[in-house]
Amino acid sequence: MSDRIRYGGDYNPEQWPERVWDDDHRLFTEAGIDTLTVGVFSWSLTQPAEDTYDLTVLDRVLKRAAEEGRQVCLATGTAALPPWLAKKYPEVNRTDFEGRRHRYGQRHNFCPGSPVYRRLSTALAGRLAERYADHPALLAWHINNEYGGACYCDRCADAFRAWLRERHGTLDALNDAWWTTFWSHRYTDWDQIEPPSALTEHWRGPDHTAFQGLTLDYRRFMTDALLGCFTAEKEAIRAHDPHTPVTTNFMGMYRPLDYHRWAPHLDFASWDNYPPLGAPPTWPALAHDLMRGLKDGAPFWLMEQTPSTTACRDVNPLRRPGELRLATFQAIAHGADAALYFQLRASRGACEKYHGAVIGHAGRADTRVFREVAGLGHELAALGDATLGARTPARTALLFDWDSWWALETSDGPSRLVRYQDTVHAYYRAAREAGADVDVVPQTADLTPYDVVLAPVLHLVKGDLAARLEAVAERGGTVLATFLSGRADEHDRAFLTDVPGPLAPLMGVRVDEWDARPPEFVQSVRLGEFRAEARLVFEIVLERGAEPVGTYGTDFYAGTPAVTRNAFGRGEGWYVATDLDQPGVDHVVRRVLARHDLIGPYAGHPALETATRTAPDGTRLLFLLNHGREPARLTAHATATDLLTGRRTGAGEPLTLDPLGVVILSLPYPRPQQMRRPRSSGTPDLRKK
Ligand code: GLA
Ligand code: ZN
Repeated sequence: MSDRIRYGGDYNPEQWPERVWDDDHRLFTEAGIDTLTVGVFSWSLTQPAEDTYDLTVLDRVLKRAAEEGRQVCLATGTAALPPWLAKKYPEVNRTDFEGRRHRYGQRHNFCPGSPVYRRLSTALAGRLAERYADHPALLAWHINNEYGGACYCDRCADAFRAWLRERHGTLDALNDAWWTTFWSHRYTDWDQIEPPSALTEHWRGPDHTAFQGLTLDYRRFMTDALLGCFTAEKEAIRAHDPHTPVTTNFMGMYRPLDYHRWAPHLDFASWDNYPPLGAPPTWPALAHDLMRGLKDGAPFWLMEQTPSTTACRDVNPLRRPGELRLATFQAIAHGADAALYFQLRASRGACEKYHGAVIGHAGRADTRVFREVAGLGHELAALGDATLGARTPARTALLFDWDSWWALETSDGPSRLVRYQDTVHAYYRAAREAGADVDVVPQTADLTPYDVVLAPVLHLVKGDLAARLEAVAERGGTVLATFLSGRADEHDRAFLTDVPGPLAPLMGVRVDEWDARPPEFVQSVRLGEFRAEARLVFEIVLERGAEPVGTYGTDFYAGTPAVTRNAFGRGEGWYVATDLDQPGVDHVVRRVLARHDLIGPYAGHPALETATRTAPDGTRLLFLLNHGREPARLTAHATATDLLTGRRTGAGEPLTLDPLGVVILSLPYPRPQQMRRPRSSGTPDLRKK
């Protein structure tokens, strides 16, 4: 196989007679497709009964792939139960949040605590590994599919109690962590503890709980329970195949599972990109950077995207001409070393028959979508290995924390309307649109490579984070926190100190009270000459060393600080006490970035996204992505060659991007301050296989 960005997608030849496979492979060759994700929903085929395995179809699929010079990302297929299994062992079916034990149906439908599921899924994974470990077509293992959801059955309740014993040790510790003296909840026996559901602590759905500490622990437990399914399958694979890299496809910013708990167990990260309708380009970019952050900056795979349209939404718009190409290069710009589709051939029946596919029902190559897919396939082939293994030399970090997401959105007060992703995205967007590369990392990440650390709505501050943030400022860096950051500990117990808790010394402020208003109420914030608007939450800030940067315009706190800056060591702590609108966030973040000379050379262009990757040989690649419908007319900031066209542009010369156009500037000599010390943990080298 050549060294290139892997290209292909989910392929379900088992749905078709073999003469269709001939057409498939002819078209794959035409489109430059080299990678097939196979077997994702094939359990009822590979194991038609408990004592019968039948791998004849998979044998033929892999053999054919190898003959055609393609490789396979082989799924274990354990995400959708076969009917016989659910019928024979009803315990494998999930119990939902309302307490209803489900009967057979759909997919992603197994109870993670079921011993039968564990036994049969690992047996299947082991069988597949035994058979295909040394197959020339095998490139990677794809365990299960889009792990998610939760189970509330009695067995999971027991497993939760065992997990709690492990975590808290004693009931006293648990009672203290959950603050159970409130509402007469002191537990005197582990068996009294119930999973938090509609039948117990919740009302109005999963976000309204009487005990945040309990709900937080259940989400952590479910994350671990599903992770246990993954690691068990991985072990079963490893018994036969010690080397082939293993992944499972994540969903980017997916609230139910804390992917940071999973990250150490993956050989490489991969994810499925289906941005919400109307999302700005920085939304999928944030998810890409979050996924890249899972493995300490190592490249990831774009495991799925639609070539044209989804099917599951009420309204499923097409990707316009050029949008697929732009989205694919955006993924590569943010660290993808593979670009795969769901799906290669459209299913004939069932709920995804109208989902976009590389090959439609008529099997034609002369469609717009096929032409775009094929054009991109050839472009990626021509690009070769230029971007493979490249790293993002970010000097800005954004802390992303599932615990804070859960705690913020289950909190009663101050406002149900503050959404974690929206606020995090606003800060991310501001930095990215200013041209800064951003690593999206967990609270536990090593912060020493960064000049700027953004901590928007970092509701829970855990471990020694505060000290490590102070160290960033001590050595001259800038740390920015916002309203509702630093409020509670890992159990969601309020800190018994001034708000923002352990961040207060670094921020140089004290917050005694906070106001919340309906969304239509707009507060003006004056930032020097600049006026921003703020909504939802207004913390009232007392300066304790910090100086005001912005002030509220109205109400009894008019004239008091809404944004502050505190000199700390050789650096600064910035505190934004309210939910500023995007121009306000942009203004503040650009001031912070400017302090470190981190505003990019094209930050002035509203539709242009830039992203940097440093190739293993030290070549710096600057991706320019024009998200606009108009040409982007720029002036080149440096002499560089576009990897896609081979065109050289001198510094100061005009550089024009087509609407939705992409340029990858190759800048051979990294600027000295951009040479970072190498980080640990590489991507598995899939090229060597
Ligand atoms: C998910 C799944 C696929 C398919 C697509 C459709 O990503 O993994 O099996 O259902 O969605 O968009
Ligand atoms: Zn269960």
